[in-house]
Amino acid sequence: MKRVITYGTFDLLHYGHINLLRRAKALGDYLIVALSTDEFNSVQKGKKCYFNYEQRKELLESVRYVDLVIPETCWEQKATDMKEYHIDTFVIGEDWKGKFDYLKDLGVEVVYLPRTPEISTTQIKEDLDSSRH
Ligand code: CTP
Repeated sequence: MKRVITYGTFDLLHYGHINLLRRAKALGDYLIVALSTDEFNSVQKGKKCYFNYEQRKELLESVRYVDLVIPETCWEQKATDMKEYHIDTFVIGEDWKGKFDYLKDLGVEVVYLPRTPEISTTQIKEDLDSSRH
């Protein structure tokens, strides 16, 4: 069984996220999503989420492509996750291109997928905000 992992915040789940998850699952048989916790988002990524961790987790668990959701609490956990979860393929959107190539040294395949154009959580928030004025 080929095991795939991806990382992210996945706030206000949208079709760009679903596209990413569908293509990630297609790279193997079992897809793990390491979901950024609220603390990791606010302290390390400078992101404030609309939905909290438990809400984001429940949404992801209801997506047919996702087999398991685990917490992402720090940047450094990736190396240990690869071993602990016996990961074959690490996948993420190409906004992170090159950033995680070091995982190849652990024998993991690293894949950057093209983003779905014209949609992001930030964009949704901005559009909703400007529609009120
Ligand atoms: N993603 C994608 N296409 C999009 C938006 C996101 O493929 N249009 C991917 C990202 O590349 C990442 C994953 O979905 O691998 C989770 O991204 P995340 O940062 O949570 O979503 P964004 O919508 O990009 O959020 P933000 O605007 O806050 O950066």
